[in-house]
Amino acid sequence: MTVYLNGQFLPLEDAKISVLDRGFIYGDGVYELVPVYGREPYRLPGHLARLQRSLDGIRLANPHSAAEWETIIRQLIARMAFADQGVYFQITRGVAKRDHAFPIGVTPTVFMMSNPLALPTPEQIERGVAVITAVDERWLHCDLKTISLLGNVLARQAAVDAGAAESVFFRNGYLTEASASNVLVVKNGVVVAPPKDHLILPGITYDAAFDLAREADLAVEVRPVPKNEALSADEMWLSSSTKEVLAVTMIDGKAFAGGRPGPLFRKMHALFQASKRRP
Ligand SMILES: Cc1ncc(COP(=O)(O)O)c(C=O)c1O
Repeated sequence: MTVYLNGQFLPLEDAKISVLDRGFIYGDGVYELVPVYGREPYRLPGHLARLQRSLDGIRLANPHSAAEWETIIRQLIARMAFADQGVYFQITRGVAKRDHAFPIGVTPTVFMMSNPLALPTPEQIERGVAVITAVDERWLHCDLKTISLLGNVLARQAAVDAGAAESVFFRNGYLTEASASNVLVVKNGVVVAPPKDHLILPGITYDAAFDLAREADLAVEVRPVPKNEALSADEMWLSSSTKEVLAVTMIDGKAFAGGRPGPLFRKMHALFQASKRRP
């Protein structure tokens, strides 16, 4: 497999970085994952804008312009044998003697790889997925897409251990998001989701779902969602670049929302599928 590292396309086996890279030592970096349908990146400007936000949030200068990023991404896409891809890229603060403070005059490390896009199975789409609930114990900058993901990693493993797809987080009695997805609920025909503040990642698929809902004249509301409201909603959806939109039909081992994806999920799923092939 060909990957990109610091200006070069090279075989994965030859892509090497120093053990002093601050990504390795401190988790000091940010990342993006862009879904690619039929070799076309989906909502690339949104991903590049979020990357800039994350870089600004950790005070790391963007090593590339948006046009340069697009060129590198498209060059990597073209080198892959498969058409539907997940392009992952990360930027770390580079290689320096270990010291918490930022090093001076160091070039950031840029790594990019593309894997086949692992979308939900037809069964997951048809029957929905199970989640568990969890206390959101992560830091207070969940809006930054940093590579320091230990809180998310532990929560996702707890879900896997319970045979579930995701852990859905609550902080101080309110819904935040899931370990690697945003969470939207439906109540009385209204699509509701928490605001894009510092407590959740501003998901590109979350934005897509809201844009599609508004275009289809569905009622939407962005506001804090209390835990009891989320757990008694008519529908709950997960959204992410690899899950697209998925219905939750079991929570903490009990059937949720009748144990079947609801009517608005089916509508949103169809709208999303249609939107994928748009330029
Ligand atoms: C914590 C978290 N929230 C939300 C999302 C969804 O973001 P997007 O729709 O941009 O993939 C992700 C995606 O990886 C995530 O890791």
